[in-house]
Amino acid sequence: MKQYQVGIIGATGMVGQRFALLLSRHPWFRVKLLAASARSAGKTYAEAVEGRWAMKEPVPEALRDMVLYDAVAEKTEIAAQVDFVFCAVDMKKDEIRALEEAYAKLECPVISNNSAHRFTDDVPMIIPEINPQHAEIIPAQRRRLGTKRGFIAVKSNCSLQSYVPALYPLSREFPVTRALVCTYQAISGAGKTFERWPEILDNVVPYIGGEEEKSEREPLKIWGHVEGDRIVCADAPQFTAQCLRVPVSDGHMAAVFASFAKKPTRKEMLDCWAQFSGLPQQLELPSAPKQFLHYFEEDDLPQTKLQRNLENGMAVSIGRLREDTQYDYKFVCLSHNTLRGAAGGAVLLAELLCAQGYLD
Ligand SMILES: NC(=O)c1ccc[n+]([C@@H]2O[C@H](COP(=O)([O-])OP(=O)(O)OC[C@H]3O[C@@H](n4cnc5c(N)ncnc54)[C@H](OP(=O)(O)O)[C@@H]3O)[C@@H](O)[C@H]2O)c1
Repeated sequence: MKQYQVGIIGATGMVGQRFALLLSRHPWFRVKLLAASARSAGKTYAEAVEGRWAMKEPVPEALRDMVLYDAVAEKTEIAAQVDFVFCAVDMKKDEIRALEEAYAKLECPVISNNSAHRFTDDVPMIIPEINPQHAEIIPAQRRRLGTKRGFIAVKSNCSLQSYVPALYPLSREFPVTRALVCTYQAISGAGKTFERWPEILDNVVPYIGGEEEKSEREPLKIWGHVEGDRIVCADAPQFTAQCLRVPVSDGHMAAVFASFAKKPTRKEMLDCWAQFSGLPQQLELPSAPKQFLHYFEEDDLPQTKLQRNLENGMAVSIGRLREDTQYDYKFVCLSHNTLRGAAGGAVLLAELLCAQGYLD
């Protein structure tokens, strides 16, 4: 496979640090440059993350002395040096929309973790095992942007990266009509550590701004289909969500209740999960888990601390499947929010787009 030169926009943040670790040892992608805000520009990466490095592993040796670019002021210089960029920044939505579009128009594709473009009609929002076919919209987006190479592709919100993978494979044979989800989300999802957010210890916060809307709405784009020059959202399943912040470092858990147009048996659900495999597994993409969905029979599994790193944090853990009195079934599921839910999911998406030729 060809080697791709990549940039990380937002390299100093929680997701950016994950990108730095994942990409520093990636077989196809070589980190050519790092960028963040004007506050970090001109510093080495080691200086810029000093006192806020939140990963268990140290800052990758090869990146320590790289001098950070200003992602806004130095777009042209950045775009000229890389094949594409990963983007995870904390800025206002309209600023992110403009920034990502500017990179795309500079013929630098953007693989984004940000929510700003998730509902732009011709921007694919892809979970690689679930809806890889949405990449077919990229030529239409390039026509709108007037680019040959440049485009934006996004990944979906971290909150839904456990329950959408669990429900989508079932829905192909047993359409899901409605689902209720309660999520128990890690503090790294807010870019925080326990040192930076001591008030979360011994506490639960029943509000994460904008999260419930994303958790209810984004699945419908993933269930949607390409029609002409846009992705049309599905109108089912109907989701209702409550999202809580809990005192764990990494890993978003979801408690799910679901009803189906045709109720499957428990065995049919377990067989479906065990047999499910997507394009990343068929293509043997470097970051793809061997088995995407793992079911645990033990009553007290999955647990955030025990299962979040399953298959390098790229697999989804499911457990406690049983019938419900109000919905057909209930179960719990778990995914790592900064790996599968953020940087890892974006790296896998980039691998898929490389394999499909969109990043050549
Ligand atoms: N954390 C998660 O689990 C998660 C999951 C999915 C998606 N996301 C999304 O990923 C994005 C980043 O999240 P995060 O948790 O990594 O945030 P974060 O830790 O607060 O990091 C924010 C990053 O944005 C950069 N930045 C801020 N203002 C900028 C500007 N004006 N120009 C250029 N860069 C700027 C920061 O650079 P400086 O250091 O120079 O300020 C930093 O690198 C957000 O859109 C978030 O919604 C996060």
